Amino acid sequence: MEKTMGIMVEHVSKAFGKERILKDVNLTICAGEIYGVVGNNGSGKTVLMKCICGFLRPDSGRIIVNGKQVGKECDFPDGLGVIIETPGFIPNLSGYKNLKILASLKARIGKKEIVESLRRVGLDPGMKKPVAKYSLGMRQRLGIAQAIMEDPDVLILDEPFNGLDKAGVTQMRALLKELKEQGKSILLASHNAQDIEVLCDAVHEMEDQWK
Ligand SMILES: Nc1ncnc2c1ncn2[C@@H]1O[C@H](COP(=O)(O)OP(=O)(O)OP(=O)(O)O)[C@@H](O)[C@H]1O
Ligand SMILES: [Mg+2]
Repeated sequence: MEKTMGIMVEHVSKAFGKERILKDVNLTICAGEIYGVVGNNGSGKTVLMKCICGFLRPDSGRIIVNGKQVGKECDFPDGLGVIIETPGFIPNLSGYKNLKILASLKARIGKKEIVESLRRVGLDPGMKKPVAKYSLGMRQRLGIAQAIMEDPDVLILDEPFNGLDKAGVTQMRALLKELKEQGKSILLASHNAQDIEVLCDAVHEMEDQWK
């Protein structure tokens, strides 16, 4: 597994002071798998995702993404696309311009890929409206476009369906299935049991911290 693509979380624990949030979490997500993470508010779904991305450091255990140990062999894993909570964008710029600035950080993709990712999430790439005037669902779609635009092998999606209308949910489910078929490894947190049921190969249930 270590040299292959995907995510491996081994015996990961994380506490904030006396609050033990992650208690010996173990999961493996191979290529072409969607793994669901469910649990109550405050059970640690977002904390787990932040640990996988290297934004938070676990107290013990190890996390390997695409063959590299996070926090040891890499700070932010290569080939990882992320949407965690509400994504931040520059409010007075259009969706396209926001993605263009973000894409310029790695300089791996150009206009064609940005336009394609906006289309895939159902946004008009030519729309001049600044992000400040986007609805919640439009902002969420832009966040998903950002997560997929560089064609990552691994995707961390924290409540990606938040704020989406019925058509948006159907479109995003189809997109996730397509990404799975392309061999991506996806970790998906959702409070919607139906999303989890129709999309996921396996589910990790977070324990409440007082247990
Ligand atoms: N940086 C932090 N410092 C201290 N405590 C934190 C920090 N980040 C998260 N927590 C705590 O960790 C616990 C888990 O939070 P987390 O955001 O992972 O929950 P969640 O399962 O994603 O919940 P939700 O369903 O509401 O999104 C909460 O009690 C939260 O207050
Ligand atoms: Mg959360």
